[in-house]
Amino acid sequence: MPHSSFPTIRLRRLRDEPAVRRLIQETTLSPERLILPLFVRPGEGVRQPIASMPGNFQLSIDELIKEAEQAAALGLGGIILFGIPETKDTIGSDAMSEAGIIARAVRAVKQSVGNKLLLITDVCFCEYTDHGHCGVLTPKNSGGYEVDNDATLENLVRQALIHARAGADMIAPSSMMDGIVRVLRSGLDRDGFSHLPIMSYAAKYASSFYGPFREAAQSTPQFGNRRSYQMDPAAAAAQAVREVQLDLNEGADIIIVKPALAYLDIVRMVRDRFEGVPIATYNVSGEFSMVKATAEKGWIDEKAVVLESLTAMTRAGANIILTYWAKDVAQWL
Ligand code: PBG
Repeated sequence: MPHSSFPTIRLRRLRDEPAVRRLIQETTLSPERLILPLFVRPGEGVRQPIASMPGNFQLSIDELIKEAEQAAALGLGGIILFGIPETKDTIGSDAMSEAGIIARAVRAVKQSVGNKLLLITDVCFCEYTDHGHCGVLTPKNSGGYEVDNDATLENLVRQALIHARAGADMIAPSSMMDGIVRVLRSGLDRDGFSHLPIMSYAAKYASSFYGPFREAAQSTPQFGNRRSYQMDPAAAAAQAVREVQLDLNEGADIIIVKPALAYLDIVRMVRDRFEGVPIATYNVSGEFSMVKATAEKGWIDEKAVVLESLTAMTRAGANIILTYWAKDVAQWL
């Protein structure tokens, strides 16, 4: 009988020396797997602090360019852009205009950083509509309004083409409309962008962890909530598998699970089910702000907690992490 337990086996042997611990590590972080979300707004020389997200700003295009250059210099995997328009209306017209904030921002960033930095755009309407919902509203039989799936799809294609023509390297649809990846893929292909990858927010939950983002993007729904299109946190976990499968069938190249920390079971499940598919997870605003606030009180060590959290996301199976800490992490590593 071989000695298969103590005292022959001592797991602490491999923990004793830092060099040995490093040698046997499996989960490592690197800047090129991190994507930094940035918010762009009209104006010049504007760095408007976002109160609920310390260290994050609504940036005018000139300031955004500086951030993009820093992100490139730090070797980040990319940036993802969110536009906050001068004026919002019922359909989010600014997002579908060549003269809109996001079109101008993408052109400017591409001109300055070229191919030194991957530029991703978030394709959605909540930042651009005056009601804060992610698409076109239609009256509901039972009273009130709901987001019209198919009418919204048409506008999302218009929006995505604006991003593509402005020079975006990748688009990230986040509206959770059914069929979004299919219509974007065919719309892009028809317009000569068959090479442009789609990173789809495939499993995006109706989460309270988005609170600070909605302040950042001024995109809080003016009535109701997003539960009729984003996923129910209490739904069968396997529903995420269906969402991901559908998006892959429709042509998604990379899929996102969002939020990250409270949904690591979903990241792991998707990782196990879809071999070879790049998986991203979005370490969202509420996850960011909780740590910031606690660290400000001196109750936890921000750097240690962040590195541990991102390690957990990676260990759960995420290849890519969207995080407001991307620049910090690149500097810490
Ligand atoms: C939708 C979008 C949201 C986030 C990213 N894309 C907001 C929402 O669905 O309400 C949230 C990101 C975060 O909380 O950091 N355009």
